[in-house]
Amino acid sequence: MEDKNIYILGIESSCDDTAAAVINNGVVLSNVVATQKIHEAYGGVVPELASRAHQQNIVPVVHEALRKANIDKKDVSAIAFTQGPGLMGSLLVGASFSKSFALGLNIPLIGVNHMQAHILAHFIKTEEQAAPNFPFLALTISGGHTQLVKVTDYFEMEIIGETLDDAVGEAFDKSAKILGLPYPGGPLIDKYAQLGDPDRFPFPKPKVGPLEFSFSGLKTSVLYFIERETGADPEFIEKNRNDICASIQATIVDYLMDKLKNAVKKTGIKEIAIGGGVSANSGIRKALNDAEKSYGWKTYIPKFEYCTDNAAMIAMVGELKYKQQMFSSPDIVSQARMKF
Ligand code: KG4
Ligand code: ZN
Repeated sequence: MEDKNIYILGIESSCDDTAAAVINNGVVLSNVVATQKIHEAYGGVVPELASRAHQQNIVPVVHEALRKANIDKKDVSAIAFTQGPGLMGSLLVGASFSKSFALGLNIPLIGVNHMQAHILAHFIKTEEQAAPNFPFLALTISGGHTQLVKVTDYFEMEIIGETLDDAVGEAFDKSAKILGLPYPGGPLIDKYAQLGDPDRFPFPKPKVGPLEFSFSGLKTSVLYFIERETGADPEFIEKNRNDICASIQATIVDYLMDKLKNAVKKTGIKEIAIGGGVSANSGIRKALNDAEKSYGWKTYIPKFEYCTDNAAMIAMVGELKYKQQMFSSPDIVSQARMKF
């Protein structure tokens, strides 16, 4: 069903970014994100501060999204918002806003699972890349999640592996913190890693089931390693920053690739789509590109703005649900933990 006049407003407020976007037939007309800087000073997201900042940001962010899309709120066909998973206080701000908006304009309300949205972000139309073909494997890697999902159809998804403790983004951020780098440290590890020797300091890869992930042990080995080395030479980090970062990154990337190889072996599926903020990592991008040649996989990496938390992906799911009339009732409840 193609209808030029369907405009979906998407709202994302599951963590520390307040975002709104408008989509029309898979094409993003606007994608606005207000990133909350306040958490940097605390070295991580402070839930109470996040919900207060969402309250301040949400109205201006929605205004901006409608303005950039060049539509009036009366043109909006339905509003889609993140129902979960995420921080409860943050989710509630997006949910209350969306419920009032839907009620005020008498339009459908559509609750969206944030993790499904990271995956379905691949269906946003862009010039750069086509969408993956069903069935495909999705690896969602961010500061809050690490999941391997078998995707048979838009709303037929099965989690086949996930982390037992930290998310992969946390492994990057916590390692960066040990090295004295500011939050979020993932992009900085990536930056220094590109100048370093990945084989200089070997770190052990955590041993869990073939499709499961564990990152807390890696963080501990980085901590002990740094404590030991800085005990002997207080300038150890400064002298070796690039090599330390390259070694940590190589360990994580290798580990993710091992899991993907296991998943391909188990399912026979060679269409691989990644999503989440860690998809920005240069090491994982290169490893996936190499895998196309070495293993005959077809890999999909969304544009960066659709990898990190954003509302365009929420609007995309909203549009897919709108076309299938999958609407939510006004008493839909936010869920901090949410299954597919
Ligand atoms: O998807 P996202 O923006 O928010 C969450 O849902 O968590 O992901 C943020 C995470 C942070 O942990 C950040 O350090 C990590 O993605 N990240 C990276 C890179 N860019 C962002 N990690 C490694 N390398 C990068 N280039
Ligand atoms: Zn996310």
